[in-house]
Amino acid sequence: MSVPILTTKHMAMPALGLGTWPMKGAECQAAVESALGLGYRHIDTAEMYGNEDAVGAALAAADVPRGEIFLTTKIWWDKPDGPSFRAGFEQSLQRLRQPYVNLLLIHWPSPQLDLPSVLTEMARLQEAGLARAVGVSNFPPGLLKQALAHKIAELSCIQVEQHAMLGQDRILALAGEAGMVTTSYTPLGKGEMLEDEVITGIADRLDATPAQVALAWLLAKPMVAAIPKAQGPERQRENLGAAEIQLSEADIAAIDALPKNRRFVNPSFAPDWAA
Ligand SMILES: NC(=O)c1ccc[n+]([C@@H]2O[C@H](COP(=O)([O-])OP(=O)(O)OC[C@H]3O[C@@H](n4cnc5c(N)ncnc54)[C@H](OP(=O)(O)O)[C@@H]3O)[C@@H](O)[C@H]2O)c1
Repeated sequence: MSVPILTTKHMAMPALGLGTWPMKGAECQAAVESALGLGYRHIDTAEMYGNEDAVGAALAAADVPRGEIFLTTKIWWDKPDGPSFRAGFEQSLQRLRQPYVNLLLIHWPSPQLDLPSVLTEMARLQEAGLARAVGVSNFPPGLLKQALAHKIAELSCIQVEQHAMLGQDRILALAGEAGMVTTSYTPLGKGEMLEDEVITGIADRLDATPAQVALAWLLAKPMVAAIPKAQGPERQRENLGAAEIQLSEADIAAIDALPKNRRFVNPSFAPDWAA
């Protein structure tokens, strides 16, 4: 199974990873161990998921050298300045039992976010080797532009919701220009899009599954990764198989043409997405 590697100056990220939210405890540890056993080499967690300890336990138990694993964590929006961000991240590293993560993200922007202060701290954490690469999540295009314009930290990645029912053209253009990876979260639309007739039709024709087609559509985009969450080995294996699916231009165009207005993750503290 060959998963493409997306490369920036600071990271080499396997384009398919395992999402871990909302798994916790032994269930999360087992899912991450299973995924690593199947060949996943990219694991996505966050301070807020309450599962960094379980992810850390899985990494410790797994028979895979740490250097082969790409690990992302994210710091919650209640740490809106450099000192609180660093303190939160140091606790994440402890829970993960790791000397470093491959990618450290601001999980969500908040109205209190002191962006220059957090970016400055991220640059320091990167310089110190505690975070090999840094980036942001849930930033609307205008805020991503601001973060890039500061030129304080070299951002390698933006993680946003993206799937066959929600496009991110403005983010993709900005990230592409900046040489950043765009990681697609909720790439299966929580499973809802897997009933869509266009997707099931393509899946039937290619002898693939709807989830594989939905993921392959994302992976066909340059510098785009996806982090589907699947608890059990069967779906984990199935999702990893998306890396083997080649969609034709016509299939890609058919999925492109589906309405792109379905956002599944929109909490009360979400930013103005059009900003
Ligand atoms: N940055 C952020 O703010 C943010 C926000 C949301 C999510 N995320 C990250 O993105 C990851 C994925 O997003 P998500 O969990 O919201 O949604 P998702 O990956 O689109 O969907 C997960 C759901 O789809 C099911 N599923 C998985 N593989 C399947 C398959 N092959 N066929 C049918 N159903 C399948 C899973 O069930 P089972 O597990 O029971 O198999 C689960 O119910 C999260 O785990 C998290 O790491 C980040």
